[in-house]
Amino acid sequence: MTSDAPIVLGIETSCDETGIGIVQGHTLLANEIATSVDEHARFGGVVPEIASRSHLEAIEPALQRACRSAGITLDDVDAIAVTAGPGLVGALIVGVATAKALAVALSVPVYGVNHLASHVVVDELQHGPLADPTVGLLVSGGHSSLLLVSDDVESIRPLGQTLDDAAGEAFDKVARLLGLPFPGGPWIDRVAREGDPSAIDFPRGLNNPGDRERYPYDFSFSGLKTAVARWVKARQDAGEDIPVADVAASVQEAIADVLTARTVAACRDHGVGEVVIGGGVAANSRLRAMAEARCEAAGLSLRVPRPDLCTDNGAMVAALGSRLVATGAPASPLDFATTSNLPVTRRAW
Ligand code: KG4
Ligand code: ZN
Repeated sequence: MTSDAPIVLGIETSCDETGIGIVQGHTLLANEIATSVDEHARFGGVVPEIASRSHLEAIEPALQRACRSAGITLDDVDAIAVTAGPGLVGALIVGVATAKALAVALSVPVYGVNHLASHVVVDELQHGPLADPTVGLLVSGGHSSLLLVSDDVESIRPLGQTLDDAAGEAFDKVARLLGLPFPGGPWIDRVAREGDPSAIDFPRGLNNPGDRERYPYDFSFSGLKTAVARWVKARQDAGEDIPVADVAASVQEAIADVLTARTVAACRDHGVGEVVIGGGVAANSRLRAMAEARCEAAGLSLRVPRPDLCTDNGAMVAALGSRLVATGAPASPLDFATTSNLPVTRRAW
């Protein structure tokens, strides 16, 4: 992509991060993030009303910072992309209303995009165009899926998904059981470094006879959470200390094991040689290391974006917008809505 490629501004407000990204072709020019995570921490989860209000306060300054850091003015922007779903409705509306207002003021097209697809496509900013086809492992706080991604990102094919909790949700719930702060995923990652991953053999989910045939590319994490809760309670009832680092390392091992084993199986069964991992959990150090080792052993090439592109951000939205602009996809009508439960297979309107 040449430097005269269109400049796309991406807006992300689906949860608790206000993200503004600016992209030209596959080149990242700016990625500004403001987070309200500290305001939610004492509630142990994201409070939608607080998230919406925080987006409203943070979005304009973030926009200014992003333009400054990209060395552009708003007049240089050729198109706007914005997360239209899935996510918290009140939070999404702040981004979508801002995007529409900017599109009208600047006379540029606006693209309402799918947050989940943008988690997969963001890697193009770091490692160039995705191979066609690629198996995508999407692991975030609300979603966990294995996807078959073709050149046309608007026709993502789901191969499997979690039957209950998302991987990030499993990390967060276990962290809570261990008394670690919210969001728990990064804490488990950190604490696990001091622990023994083989200390406790936690269940892998869908591993019973017959499950492999029936659910070859699906996941289940609710049993893991229950097993950890039981394990912790039994130690507490016996008056024993909880070896937090060992529990964290063993849980992380179980999650990374299941995710990577199913990803390699999906590639093998579908004759696909490329893997991309996206979503907040892709920032997990053990998942990254295990995926690297298993993909290498299976002769697969693996791409994982750097951690700050894995968690929610505006650059990923701009990356998907940039792809839509480059492929000549039609822009959204100005009356497009937000869709809180948008499936990964659907464009945003
Ligand atoms: O993609 P994301 O930023 O937001 C959603 O779209 O959900 O993902 C957030 C999830 C949270 O559950 C968080 O605990 C998890 O990603 N996460 C991690 C790590 N960093 C973020 N999980 C494990 N290890 C990490 N290093
Ligand atoms: Zn996300």
